[in-house]
Amino acid sequence: VLNLLSDTGPDWAERARLHIDELLIDHAHCEKKAAGMAVQLIFRYTQHAFLLEPLSRLAREELTHFEQVLEHLGARGIAFRALKPSPYAGRLRSEVRSFEPAHLLDTLLCCALVEARSCERFGILAGAVEDAALARFYRGLLASEARHHRTYLDLAAELASAAEVRSRLRALALHEAAVLQDIPELARMHG
Ligand SMILES: [Fe+2]
Ligand SMILES: [Fe+2]
Repeated sequence: VLNLLSDTGPDWAERARLHIDELLIDHAHCEKKAAGMAVQLIFRYTQHAFLLEPLSRLAREELTHFEQVLEHLGARGIAFRALKPSPYAGRLRSEVRSFEPAHLLDTLLCCALVEARSCERFGILAGAVEDAALARFYRGLLASEARHHRTYLDLAAELASAAEVRSRLRALALHEAAVLQDIPELARMHG
């Protein structure tokens, strides 16, 4: 249902659990970037009325998640700071076509895949972390990210036929799985 073509292995969960502070800082950056991405699309595609309200709502939700992660950081006495990001998002976008409307279609599908991967990993974290409050938080996020995955797919469906969306989603999901296999093993949401 998440359209991912690979499963996250147990080594990722172990890395995340051992470096949970670093993972939380990275997670905060991810929520901020997810909000920024949605806002960027609103700016760039003013002519596409169908995007505006769903992406505005999504951006607000991502900023709420950002604030919630900051709260968890604060509760643990961890300062939010710059962190070397995973190359995941940049490499994922390397397959986005440069011409419109393919560019927007591919961008929406990449966003859908990022949401799906986050959702999968929040599920893993919910079962892996010892801290009950944090596990509850991850379980709540899992549902939002699954919904965001759906939102991006619904927006993609406004741009192309169901067959085209399906085939492009599959190609990008194959690419996503390959990117993930090849990136440095860091304690990152998408590491
Ligand atoms: Fe989020
Ligand atoms: Fe999201």
